[in-house]
Amino acid sequence: IWPNSIWWEVFKDDFDIGAAVTSRTVDSAADLLRAQYNSITAENEMNPINTQPSEGVFTFEQADKIADFAAKHGKKLRGHTLVWHNQTPDWFFEAPGGGPAGKETLLRRMRDHIHAVAGRYKGRTYCWDVVNEAVADEGEQWLRASKWHDMVGPEFIVRAFEYAHEADPDALLFYNDYNECNPAKRDKIIRLVKWLKEQGAPIHGIGMQGHYNLASPSIAEVREAIEKYAELGLVIHVTELDMSVYAWDDRRTDLLEPTAEMVERQAELYEQLFSLYREYRDVIRSVTFWGAADDYAWLSYFPVRGRRNWPLLFDAQHRPKEAFRRVVRTA
Ligand code: XIL
Repeated sequence: IWPNSIWWEVFKDDFDIGAAVTSRTVDSAADLLRAQYNSITAENEMNPINTQPSEGVFTFEQADKIADFAAKHGKKLRGHTLVWHNQTPDWFFEAPGGGPAGKETLLRRMRDHIHAVAGRYKGRTYCWDVVNEAVADEGEQWLRASKWHDMVGPEFIVRAFEYAHEADPDALLFYNDYNECNPAKRDKIIRLVKWLKEQGAPIHGIGMQGHYNLASPSIAEVREAIEKYAELGLVIHVTELDMSVYAWDDRRTDLLEPTAEMVERQAELYEQLFSLYREYRDVIRSVTFWGAADDYAWLSYFPVRGRRNWPLLFDAQHRPKEAFRRVVRTA
């Protein structure tokens, strides 16, 4: 099967294989996407800042380009994201005459936004990350302090799911978050999902972002996260998988290519990760990488600007890396 394996076909009885794309990488990585992925997600183009930069002014060109690529090439399309504390323009939260918008206005704007965006891509986005990253990272606090939370309260999350369901009753609706391998954060995420179900919110899936690195989490910690999420009785999607070659707190910016040790360790971890995912294939239905290949990865800008990173399974020339060979061999 090497070097000609098409991995989404290799895994087709297990889960979809996806990539986040931008309005540029749908062109620059078109061949790779067509061959090696059967699902795509807009990296930023469907977020509120890009789809409704000012009230009632909808700009869908970039998002349409991505949706058109998916339709043309028969790829599934994951919608990302309707309600988030990031990439949401300030006007949402401001009253026309200045000052805070207030709960009623904010919920009306949320509903209008969700209806416009999820409505436009109805029948094309088979699922949506309805609410992204609403749980607090640290400390005792349950939900993240945000304008959504502070103006509406926890109810904003329930409403978002209701509006998304109204707008596209056939779409699978997800809550998506990161640091799922940190037990304290995960407990808060699980508490949120259980609470949403109690409130009758139409939630169908949970997204584990999967932003990992060579130092953490361990495979045992990922297993524990999957186990705990599986108990919720929802579908699991791995939504934003990548494996930074640096530990989180490594600030070096000097590397022009990954070291041999990094390449090997990354391959080993990806192989173990995919063996694990395959064990849980009844509940994990999609594995999406946060990028198609190492020539463009958001981690080359975050959290350290100008630090080159190589987190994906294809190199900057779109050739399969050692990690790809190992991953394919788990099937
Ligand atoms: C990131 C994008 O990849 C970047 O291009 C952008 O500058 C910031 O957002 N969690 C998410 C994604 O849910 O939407 C984020 O995407 C990465 C973290």
